[in-house]
Amino acid sequence: MERFLITGGKTLSGEIPVKGSKNAALKLMAASLLFDHPVTFSNIPDINDIHSMKKLIELAGGKTYSEDDQITLDNSKLISSNLDCDIAKRIRASIVLIGPLLARIGKASFPHPGGCVIGKRPIDYFVEGFKKLGARITLSDDGYKFSGRLRGNDIFLPFPSVTVTETLMMASAIAYGQTIIKNAAAEPEITQLAELLRLGGADISGAGTNTIVINGTNSRLLRMKDPAPFKIIPDRIEAGSFVILGALLSDCLKISNCCPEHIESLLYTIESAGAKLTRGEDWIKVGRSNDIRSVNITTGPYPSFATDLQSPFSIFLTQAQGESMIFETVFEGRLAYLEEIKRMGANIILCDPHRAIITGPAKLRAREMESPDLRAGLAYIIAALVAEGDSVVHNVYHIDRGYERVEERLRNVGASIQRVQV
Ligand code: EPZ
Repeated sequence: MERFLITGGKTLSGEIPVKGSKNAALKLMAASLLFDHPVTFSNIPDINDIHSMKKLIELAGGKTYSEDDQITLDNSKLISSNLDCDIAKRIRASIVLIGPLLARIGKASFPHPGGCVIGKRPIDYFVEGFKKLGARITLSDDGYKFSGRLRGNDIFLPFPSVTVTETLMMASAIAYGQTIIKNAAAEPEITQLAELLRLGGADISGAGTNTIVINGTNSRLLRMKDPAPFKIIPDRIEAGSFVILGALLSDCLKISNCCPEHIESLLYTIESAGAKLTRGEDWIKVGRSNDIRSVNITTGPYPSFATDLQSPFSIFLTQAQGESMIFETVFEGRLAYLEEIKRMGANIILCDPHRAIITGPAKLRAREMESPDLRAGLAYIIAALVAEGDSVVHNVYHIDRGYERVEERLRNVGASIQRVQV
């Protein structure tokens, strides 16, 4: 077990480059199952969720080769449609493998998926979507079994779910006939996934909008014409979290290797609250401002305010003058971490599972905390860096799922944070 020891109150400065997007890389790796030739990706983050996905693919018969920030996946001889239960339970994203496995092998089974504990996170939209595509589904204590030859259909999603859109898009890419996904999610990770599938010969239009049209290849597998590595987009949640950190604690922090366009909602909101930013095509500079004002946020599907940035932003709001409201509309269990921030001295009223009122500014006190999930874990790091004194953050493995050696990178810009073995 490891934990972070953090001494708050230090001023940050310098440059912090953003790594490749976890949530893009995981789905692109899954999509490689639709290819009958190796696919190479670059800008792969070195994080635990990626290691887990790699292992899952290897256990299904895929070959993987990693070097620096690149990974090559050769799924020409995929042999198993079963996912390793232990790993699949650990990462929710494993569910996206069902799409390519079912479309390619005609069957797939998987346990109830895992991942961060942020609400109920059911899988009914996946099940309904696969039924629409003609799959047979049986449920047992072990999990789900899907089988059948997939045929395109019109699918309306009750909510623009990210992984459901991605999974159905992958499955439909090599299915028979046309699929139209309505009320689809439009996150940049989905646009990039469609781009990869198209480079492999899939016929997909509309990705990045709410209607995606896929003309299946009638079971023909995909193949890249160009073997050059496909570069993963920068992680927009990491970029946004560093912007928040810079707005709280830096003289001037340059967030580089990022895509400001992917976090317009955060940038707009934080500027409305008084933060001073400048930006280029792939960088953002931000510094502390003396005049941070309260602002309300409502999380929602892209391009609205990302639910994954809600927890770091709440720390920003503890330092803003006045009363701010957080309205979390995507997940129902994603404000629980605020109890710990209250114990640090923040003035927070948890109105219900979706809404909280934060009144600032508050002086945060150092504390010993347990990271409840990946994004709240980073919020605790930010809170500890703001607080005066020495804090401890436990359950570092949650944070390692999504942020590559975060303590080294934060130290490089002046933070006092050490990883220690317990
Ligand atoms: C993706 O989760 C991300 N994970 C999450 O990031 C992110 O918070 C979320 O999208 C929203 O942006 C990955 O990409 C691996 P959803 P996902 O399906 O796809 C409900 C992180 O920290 N729903 O868009 O699981 C669901 O309960 C993670 O990196 C159903 O009801 O989220 C939620 O209320 C955490 N039935 C809403 O839809 C279903 O079958 C949206 O969730 C599926 C979803």
